[in-house]
Amino acid sequence: MNGQGFCYARGDPVLQAQKVSKIYALGKEKVKALDEVDFLSTQGDFVVINGPSGSGKTTLLNLLALIDRPSQGEVLFEGKPTSKLSERDLAFLRRQRIGLVFQTFNLIPVLTAAENVEYPLLLLNLSRQEREQRVRSLLEEVGLDGLGRRRPDELSGGQRQRVAIARALVTQPRVVLADEPTANLDSTTGKQIMGLLQNLNGEHCVTFVVVTHDPAVPPYAQRVLDIRDGKIQGERYVADRPA
Ligand SMILES: Nc1ncnc2c1ncn2[C@@H]1O[C@H](COP(=O)(O)OP(=O)(O)OP(=O)(O)O)[C@@H](O)[C@H]1O
Ligand SMILES: [Mg+2]
Repeated sequence: MNGQGFCYARGDPVLQAQKVSKIYALGKEKVKALDEVDFLSTQGDFVVINGPSGSGKTTLLNLLALIDRPSQGEVLFEGKPTSKLSERDLAFLRRQRIGLVFQTFNLIPVLTAAENVEYPLLLLNLSRQEREQRVRSLLEEVGLDGLGRRRPDELSGGQRQRVAIARALVTQPRVVLADEPTANLDSTTGKQIMGLLQNLNGEHCVTFVVVTHDPAVPPYAQRVLDIRDGKIQGERYVADRPA
């Protein structure tokens, strides 16, 4: 359930890229980071985009997160083109409909774990009771029951990433995008974090898109896209996901 008491229909389009290219200008030089990428994630999807350093993963994620705009092509959110949306409409989607998880956790050091999770809700018009209830239930769900009063420097890397995942989900977004969520974790902790994302994907009405170069991550996905030199090379479904 998504907290509003309903699930969207499985298969509905959530995030889509149509022939998206991104060219960065570096002085006189131009870098083609993405070359006519097509991508579709649907309701309930768990997609991993896998590729080596410099292949365009972060560039693609930033376009899908509506943080950056493509040089060519269109990004669609819930089936609607976003290129003509105002900055205000884009900010609304980023704030309420899209959750982000980063390699470096990006927590606010002076706030407690619970305050970090609550932070995105301060921009929404919710009662204090509703905010506290959401924070409590998400901290419990990510396995941080009883640790809400600790600051980030009093938590392990894996625990910090759990806080970041709770923060990404607290606005009840349609999609969570994660950029190398395991890169700063040891391999056992990385697998635990991927297992957590897998469970959350099953329990919440939320789509996950994870970009990574970590070969331990793709087995947790339903679907894996390989990216090389700014181009999607192929797509495969994962048959035996870790339990
Ligand atoms: N702001 C920028 N200005 C110029 N070139 C850039 C910029 N950001 C990325 N690039 C270039 O675009 C290409 C893709 O970069 P991107 O960061 O998307 O790769 P990545 O797959 O996320 O790599 P990594 O695994 O190292 O994070 C690279 O050649 C990179 O050097
Ligand atoms: Mg990157």
